[in-house]
Amino acid sequence: MSADFDAVADAPGRVNLLGEHTDYNDGFVLPVAIRQRTRVAMRRNGTKEFSLHAAELAQTVRFSFDAPPTDHFASYVYGCLVLARSRRADIPGLDIEVTSDVPMGVGLSSSAALEVATLRCLRGLLSLPLDDVEIAQIAQKAEIEFAHVRCGIMDQMASSLAGTDRALLIDTRTLDRRDVPLPLGSAVLVLDSGVARTLAGSGYNQRRGECEAAAAQLGVASLRDVREPDAIERLPDLLRRRARHVFTENARVLQAARTTDGAAFGQLMNASHASLRDDYEVSTPELDLLVSLLQAHPGVFGARLTGAGFGGACVALCKSDQVQAVADAVLAQYSAAGHRGRLLVP
Ligand code: GLA
Repeated sequence: MSADFDAVADAPGRVNLLGEHTDYNDGFVLPVAIRQRTRVAMRRNGTKEFSLHAAELAQTVRFSFDAPPTDHFASYVYGCLVLARSRRADIPGLDIEVTSDVPMGVGLSSSAALEVATLRCLRGLLSLPLDDVEIAQIAQKAEIEFAHVRCGIMDQMASSLAGTDRALLIDTRTLDRRDVPLPLGSAVLVLDSGVARTLAGSGYNQRRGECEAAAAQLGVASLRDVREPDAIERLPDLLRRRARHVFTENARVLQAARTTDGAAFGQLMNASHASLRDDYEVSTPELDLLVSLLQAHPGVFGARLTGAGFGGACVALCKSDQVQAVADAVLAQYSAAGHRGRLLVP
């Protein structure tokens, strides 16, 4: 990236340790930032147009507020520009350069990293009075309105506020949050299942709709508000299983945030995977295999799919001195079963 830019900013991807599909139900999540980051640089170009170059995609897209981009990737940046403009009328024409080493399409929030880095860069360029929570809120809005994924706020909050050395417990209703240290002697491992996943094309929005239907039948504003697990058991089968996942997953997050014991934390991750597989039905045979290989390794406290599911990555909490050994052994077994995985974190 050349030096003659007016503003430069970056933001990380994230991996979620626990609390999957809870954020759009006003629930609890426990993500941690990853070392991979997306960098955005901007230069005023003296026109009314935007030229967006994405180094990793080897793609340049030109657009303006009058002629929005049709390209999916550019729509994230365009959405941030439109929403920033609604805060401050005069956004100048810009040359925008994006570079990133956040893996795309595996559930590590490359889109949130792009949105947050774009908004941070605009904040620097235009001295926008935005704090990090507002950046996350605008980024989420950009994703919903311009990329048409009805996502929750976990990814953008994590990219905007989480660190890499400790997890961030977020109450997605109030946006209250606190740091949660990883269990003693543990470290995070993320492996890609090699199965592609597209969030908008998947059943993500459908799951969200099912949760809303379950909440309506239970007479609560959102599944976060369910107090009586017995009421869930009286729902029709599909909604019962969706609501049960959300209810039990919230409990697991709160329990995990209280423990400093790797084994106890790992058990909660294993239970989360079973719930995502059986009740929420967002796993795949490849994810199930990779997770079971991880869970069977003595260097692993616990493992589960991470992110929305439907393909993508698995996260494991490992004994900190065994992370590489676990990765090597499990990837070899996965490959012997005819699949192509890869190491994403560390
Ligand atoms: C995606 C969404 C998040 C969250 C997860 C599932 O990453 O962007 O808001 O819903 O899926 O936990």
